[in-house]
Amino acid sequence: MHHTMEHRRQINPILIGLMGSGKSSIGRRLATCLSLPLIDLDDYIVEKAGRSIPQLFEQDGESFFRQLESQALQEVLGKDAVIATGGGIVMGEKNRRLLKQYPPVIWLKASPEFLAQRIDGDENRPLIAGGDTLKNLQALAEQRYPLYEQCADFILPRGDMKKPEALNAILVFLSQWKA
Ligand code: S3P
Repeated sequence: MHHTMEHRRQINPILIGLMGSGKSSIGRRLATCLSLPLIDLDDYIVEKAGRSIPQLFEQDGESFFRQLESQALQEVLGKDAVIATGGGIVMGEKNRRLLKQYPPVIWLKASPEFLAQRIDGDENRPLIAGGDTLKNLQALAEQRYPLYEQCADFILPRGDMKKPEALNAILVFLSQWKA
């Protein structure tokens, strides 16, 4: 079978993983490589709501944010883009079901230790704003790893992998992916 541009199937990867795992920045590079736009779900929500994520959490609470997030996910799925999600997207059962319908979903798997170094003191992330960053991340990992795993078509174990290397591993996976 010949693969021509006309017959190119749309491949629209969705990136999932804990905060700090590189969804937005690797997503941006991936989008460039695939000549697609990047939709960053957090940015999409912030733009639509006209408020920052800390403001949304503070003023209306996490569950309100989750509603906006789920709605935003439904709006962007199926677009010809790379989608970078927020770390909590897998918390909603409905979100997980939706993600399974739009493969390939790629989990940027990173340890709490790796992530803590990268996001410690980040004011824009309410879920780690108070208390011990590493402990908070460990609790989130325990809760969410099984959910990321359920949703993922490809697991990228970041370990100490730098971004270009991570990007490359994703491109290798996608070159073999049959949509
Ligand atoms: C969250 C992660 C954030 C953002 C919000 C909640 C989470 O996105 O959606 O602060 O529950 O892990 P990033 O993963 O892009 O930091």
